[in-house]
Amino acid sequence: MSVAMPFWIAGRPATGEAELTVTNSHDGRTVGVTSVPTPEQVEEAVAAAHAVARQAAALPIHVRAEALAHVSRRIAERADELARLISGENGKPMFWARGEVSRAVSTFRFAAEETRRFSGEVVRLDTEAAATGRMAYVSRVPRGPILAISPFNFPLNLVAHKVAPAIAVGAPVIVKPAPKTPLSALVLGEILAETDLPEGMFSILPVPNDRAAALVDDPRLPVVSFTGSSPVGYAIMDQVPRKHVTLELGGNAAAVVLADADLDWAATRIALFSNYQAGQSCIAVQRVIVDELVADAFEGRLVEAVNALVTGDPADEKTQVGPLVSAEAAERVEAWVNEAVAAGAKVLAGGARDGATYAPTVLANVRKDAKVVREEVFGPVLVVQRVNGPDAAFAEVNDSAYGLQAGVFTRSLDLAFKANRELEVGGVIIGDVPSYRADQMPYGGVKDSGVGREGLRSAMDDYTYEKVMVLTGLTL
Ligand code: SIN
Repeated sequence: MSVAMPFWIAGRPATGEAELTVTNSHDGRTVGVTSVPTPEQVEEAVAAAHAVARQAAALPIHVRAEALAHVSRRIAERADELARLISGENGKPMFWARGEVSRAVSTFRFAAEETRRFSGEVVRLDTEAAATGRMAYVSRVPRGPILAISPFNFPLNLVAHKVAPAIAVGAPVIVKPAPKTPLSALVLGEILAETDLPEGMFSILPVPNDRAAALVDDPRLPVVSFTGSSPVGYAIMDQVPRKHVTLELGGNAAAVVLADADLDWAATRIALFSNYQAGQSCIAVQRVIVDELVADAFEGRLVEAVNALVTGDPADEKTQVGPLVSAEAAERVEAWVNEAVAAGAKVLAGGARDGATYAPTVLANVRKDAKVVREEVFGPVLVVQRVNGPDAAFAEVNDSAYGLQAGVFTRSLDLAFKANRELEVGGVIIGDVPSYRADQMPYGGVKDSGVGREGLRSAMDDYTYEKVMVLTGLTL
């Protein structure tokens, strides 16, 4: 019998009305139980965030930095437990769950470091005679309490990417974790409750998705930071056009393999990162665009590397590819692959489902209008597309509604800069897959992949506005 985990209202543990049971998609076992906050409890959390906003903005930097450093340390101390919880609730293999925990340790540490550097700047105004004796102090002020809506695919680190910069700038935050994976966020609540942050600074509310619209509408939460699908993200933006909305949305990320690439390295990396977390990452490789000159040699290596991946029980430390988050998710991937195959695609590897697990799959000869090319698959499916040379390759990458990140395997500095100039994406990774993300770097997309940037310093800028104080009558 599992003990229900509390959720967090204004920094205090609470229990709500209906039970929320979290199950593992691999074997159906219960991973944990929590409960759903009542509308009155949600109101309490929002009112507390609103009430504490001024005090939060005035928190001394050392208090914010010490709280963030504490969270980082405690995540590290509870790493094993957190990795098991992430793996349990999400179905992510332990290998990747451990990686996610160690990234969350860094995310909070980077925030602790950034907040100490977040000092604003001084601008001399006496560059013109009329402003002799004047200068400006430019500081950044929190826009107000933040509503953070996080996805299921990184249930700890993508919550960290919203909570850590909020604390760093002195803004209260209300987290609405994904209903399928709320448990690691609730442990983060336990850790945050150990700090000296003021009451109301954080709440973690596992409310169902159909109650999110009321939170989005609430004028006491002027910032909405959302990570998830493009349709939901843009619906939020349309719902509250006057709010500050940050959207980290989907993608159909491409890896380009040019004729001068190291083919063994490219094949190994692309195989692994089209299938990591069963392809459930916005920057998992979905399209591999390969120069015709090396396509045959590369394709053989790629299929070999994909077939060598270890698929199975996510609790097994040797497993590289586990189940998707649910059997329904795997059924949708199966339907998209079947549709592509019916239209003439050739299956080079995989192409079969077993419950919530979909085998690592490689497709060739896929029509350009297939869903597995145009939409975000969010599953372990890779489409190989052959092109003639770099120009055609970059055009193919850009032939997409999305623009999150792209990877380019080349050894040429000229081609690296050409890719950086021409690719319509938020990030270009040279010599590696588009799935590379360092948590301190700006991260976000263009086109249908969203607006705004995460990465600690970028999110801190995003959660704040510039405020100018002009000093006059100075002797400089
Ligand atoms: C995402 O799926 O957008 C997040 C990827 C990451 O943090 O590695």
